Amino acid sequence: MEQFTLHEHQVKVLNSNARFIGCIAGIRGGKTTIGAVWLLRQIDQDRESGKCGDYLICAPTNKILDQSTLPKFKEFFPPDWGVWKEQKSYFELKWNRPGSNEPCRIFVRSMDEPDSVEGMDCLAAWMDEVGKMKSQAWINVQGRLSVNKGKCILTTTPYAVNWFYKDIYKKNGDPDYDIIVWSSIDNPAFPHDEYERAKRTLPHAIFEKRYHAKFTRLEGLVYPEFDDDLHIVEPFDIPDNSNRPDVAADMSLKNEIIQKALLKVRDSYREAVILRDVQELSYEEIADIMKIEVGTVKSRINRGRAELQKYLKDIYND
Ligand SMILES: Nc1ncnc2c1ncn2[C@@H]1O[C@H](COP(=O)(O)OP(=O)(O)OP(=O)(O)O)[C@@H](O)[C@H]1O
Ligand SMILES: [Mg+2]
Repeated sequence: MEQFTLHEHQVKVLNSNARFIGCIAGIRGGKTTIGAVWLLRQIDQDRESGKCGDYLICAPTNKILDQSTLPKFKEFFPPDWGVWKEQKSYFELKWNRPGSNEPCRIFVRSMDEPDSVEGMDCLAAWMDEVGKMKSQAWINVQGRLSVNKGKCILTTTPYAVNWFYKDIYKKNGDPDYDIIVWSSIDNPAFPHDEYERAKRTLPHAIFEKRYHAKFTRLEGLVYPEFDDDLHIVEPFDIPDNSNRPDVAADMSLKNEIIQKALLKVRDSYREAVILRDVQELSYEEIADIMKIEVGTVKSRINRGRAELQKYLKDIYND
């Protein structure tokens, strides 16, 4: 295991007493490291105070789990605490659950299927790259922690302005939440020249997002943040005269059509419509993100919806 001292933001995470700790940091900023260290410290403290139970580690996909979250956790996992059970995808701990002969476990799950955590009862959880998960993942994890009023650390780089932005990032100030943000360069292991190179060569908004962990708008680009999991909208009513039952029956086709129509809507209107109708943000939040007045937000949404309607009609009539 590499030996290093935690940097100031990682220390802040360990010192936080909040129930839900959101860590938003640039790439290679040391998020996965602090997620692992925080959870192990949590387990240690629980055990010291006589609390024994199960824990949960999750990542958005098996790939991320296998390539980064799990190896990092194994790096720090004290060998005398127990063993990794590959088949069952949990760590079996050397101590038992209260009143039983069953060992405590640290479950390791991919959240491509958020229901894979149903039925567990956990003392604490760690969600790595949580910004890439579906909102159902966060809903389910809260459920798993509810009986014990367990804590959770949520580590991620910023992705789209999605549920994570709304339900975690924007909760700063709420006593249950602590939001700690830092840059790639705050990790002493991050090479300065590499940071400078990225700054020189990447579009400003992308650099700000990936290295400074800022939720930014990517101006002038055709919605590059598009992510099938996050941005395909639920089907909604299309204009009456074109509501063909054969098409309505095929939801994926319908989604494709909506995407196609959305891409035709002019950039500034499209962003407002997506933030409102897909991501369900308030007018104030949208104004904040787009750096425009609330009145302008409303008019862009109205105009965007009107354009969308028109393009949907055109596509259906083709
Ligand atoms: N405080 C620190 N001091 C020195 N090196 C560190 C520190 N924290 C983490 N590292 C090292 O920096 C590298 C990146 O750490 P880690 O994987 O935790 O970052 P991350 O933010 O999760 O990265 P990614 O964006 O790839 O998910 C690793 O090699 C890790 O060992
Ligand atoms: Mg990581």
